[in-house]
This record gives sequence, C-alpha cells and structure tokens, in this order.
Amino acid sequence: MGVIGWPVNHSLSPSMHNAAVRALDLDWAYLTFPIHPDRVADAVRGLFAAGCSGLNVTIPHKQAVIDCCSSVSLAVEAIGAANTLIPDGDGGMTGDNTDAEGFLRALDEAAPLDLDGAEVLMIGAGGAARAVAFALRGRGAHLRVANRTEEKAAALGEVVPFTRRDMEDAAASAALVVNTTSLGMGSDVIPAELPLDSLGASTVAYDLVYRSEPTPWLVAAALQGALVVDGAGMLLHQGAAAFRQWTGVEPPLDAMRAGLRSR
Ligand code: ATR
Repeated sequence: MGVIGWPVNHSLSPSMHNAAVRALDLDWAYLTFPIHPDRVADAVRGLFAAGCSGLNVTIPHKQAVIDCCSSVSLAVEAIGAANTLIPDGDGGMTGDNTDAEGFLRALDEAAPLDLDGAEVLMIGAGGAARAVAFALRGRGAHLRVANRTEEKAAALGEVVPFTRRDMEDAAASAALVVNTTSLGMGSDVIPAELPLDSLGASTVAYDLVYRSEPTPWLVAAALQGALVVDGAGMLLHQGAAAFRQWTGVEPPLDAMRAGLRSR
C-alpha cells in the first residue's frame, strides 16, 4: 500500500496505515511514492503490476488517476476526484473517493445529526468542499455555500455572499456550519472571515482543517456552546475506508488514531 503525490513527504497517511498494519500484525507496509505529474499513469500501472494492494492519491494527481481506472465509484463521478485506488483483480484498478464517507463517519461519531432537511452552511468550494457537498446531499441536507470566488459556490448549493454579515445570517439558522477552506491552518488567530457570533448551543461547527490542536475558530465556537468536530476524524475515517477496501479487514481505529497523533 502507499500514497502517490507530488510532493508527498508531508503525508500523514503512512503513520496512520502503518499503525494499523502493526496492530493487525500484517506482513504489509504503507509507503510514499513521489510521482512526477508526467509519470502518473505509468507509475500506478507499474505499482499495481508489481503487486501493490492499494494506493491513496493526493495532490496534484486526484483528477489525473481517473483516466487510469477501469471503473470509478459514484463518489468519484460526483466529486470529480479519486483518493483511493483498488486493484480490480483483472490487471486494472477501480477508483474511489473516501472523503465523503470519512466526513460523515466523523460527524456521526462526534455530533450525530439528522441531516434530512437540515440547513447547512458550507464555507469553501474547492476539492474538499465537493466531497462534503456530495456527502451532505446524500443525507438530504439543504446546502448553502459561501466561497471567496462566488462562481464556484453556485455549483454546490444555494449561494451565500462571502461577507461576514451574510455568513452570520446563514449560520444563525444552520444546524451545521462547515469550514472546508484552509483559513485558520497556520495561525493562532481566529480568521476574521469565518462566522462566529451566531454559533451557539444549537449549532455543530465542523472544521476540516487538520492540526494537532483544535483550530482557534473551533475553540471559540466551543466556548459559545457549539458542538465542535475537528479535521482529525475525517482524516482517520477516509483512511479507514480505504484500508477496509484494500484488506477486507475491519480497520483498527484506535491504533490508526494513535498513529496520526504520533506525527
Ligand atoms: P482543497 O482540496 O483543500 O479543498 P482547494 O481545492 O484548493 O483545496 O480549495 C481551497 C478552498 O479554500 C477554496 O474554496 C478557496 O477559495 P477560492 O475558491 O476563492 O480560491 C478557499 N480559500 C483558500 N484560501 C482562502 C482565503 N485566504 N480566504 C478565503 N478562502 C480561501
């Protein structure tokens, strides 16, 4: 198993999957493969021909690998990107995207919500947002989307202007507010762009940003009484969903969680 990307050395996936391998005492290893964009098709075919049992795919190859697949899941079709490749037993590979499943499993674990007909405000409209939108639509949520580049938001839901006031208004009636942007990633300051004043005990605030500590936005939302979900659960569960498909074995979540934390 392994992950292809360019670059790929910052990936957290090896710690998580190798912890699972150790916990189950499997004779496997999860490696990183830095693959130049010109060599993606050759590389994935070569790796599978050599007996690789599964691959994760990260930036910038998530779209390019789709052309190498013999079939893709509904999630890949809807999201337009694959993050998981599975040998199809016939010399080819099928493509899946486990981000949507990871998003929902982490939400169900930390803050179970009846999403059918629920108001959701999503901030951002990039690759991660497409996976979140697919997940939420599948559960029947009513999705409103605010994005700095407004045109991109329209493809995913009802557009909310990307101003603090408009986002606060939308958040006030939302059961769930999701940040899919990188705002807040490298700073200890609450991003001024994100809605906060209207979050309270009737809101779940979900930040896809992954850091070892909760983001300042989530800390502030929790202080106001909101139930909060951080990006670690989605990272864990998208990996677990891939591991399940490659091995046919139920992933050891506690070991994988500990593997992630050790990074
Ligand atoms: P990912 O795969 O992590 O979703 P992406 O596809 O590059 O990454 O999307 C990044 C998202 O974060 C986009 O919604 C982007 O807004 P634009 O579509 O306007 O680019 C948003 N984003 C990134 N930096 C931002 C910033 N400083 N302010 C507001 N939005 C930002």
